[in-house]
Amino acid sequence: MASLTLLACVLFILLPVIRSDPDALQDYCVADNAASSTGMNGIPCLNPAEVHAEHFKTSILGIAGNTSGTGLAATPITPQSMPGINTLGLTMIRFDIAPKGLIPPHSHPRASEMVFVLRGHLSVGFVDTNGKFLSTKITPGDAFIFPRGTLHYLKNIGKVPVVLIGSFNSQNPGTNLVSLALFASTPPISDNILAQAFQIDVGQVEKIRKSFGG
Ligand SMILES: *[C@@H]1O[C@H](CO)[C@@H](O)[C@H](O)[C@H]1NC(C)=O
Repeated sequence: MASLTLLACVLFILLPVIRSDPDALQDYCVADNAASSTGMNGIPCLNPAEVHAEHFKTSILGIAGNTSGTGLAATPITPQSMPGINTLGLTMIRFDIAPKGLIPPHSHPRASEMVFVLRGHLSVGFVDTNGKFLSTKITPGDAFIFPRGTLHYLKNIGKVPVVLIGSFNSQNPGTNLVSLALFASTPPISDNILAQAFQIDVGQVEKIRKSFGG
């Protein structure tokens, strides 16, 4: 019993640490985007003597994305557009979603996502790991949060384009789009596996695969 209590205490102390990007060892590590990648956790730092305020500024969230292709445009802040964000453990993104546009079910393995609506009406929802589906409508002024790792979607249910700002508690939240991950991976998952997983026949798997360009 005592050891269980100890384990619970240790987990309680460790979990918040495990669940966010690692703490940096300096105030900032402005990305040196010209440096060759070393595969380290983040991008190498610019010499602090070369750092200036513009490295911490970007105007990209103010620029409307082009939704004419898929009905969606995502404009994320990255260490390329804002070098000062490197290693600080967060990022933001602008979404433009045309009427009827859908950001299909996906998850972010490394971050929770909070969205704030500037324009338009959306239906949003996520499914937790117990299979519980939580959904609602959001309109300008509303914020909504998708817990880390949960499958979620956003759909424009209004007549005007949606403008939405998202924020993540990771510099690099990662995105797993369910449809593309399963039906358009490289190399492909075998038809038999997908047919068994979805309880459908192989012909149906190939039909879905084709519609995702897989
Ligand atoms: C938007 O993208 C489409 C292709 O999807 C392109 O034809 C069009 O020129 C783009 N519009 C602007 C303003 O860049």
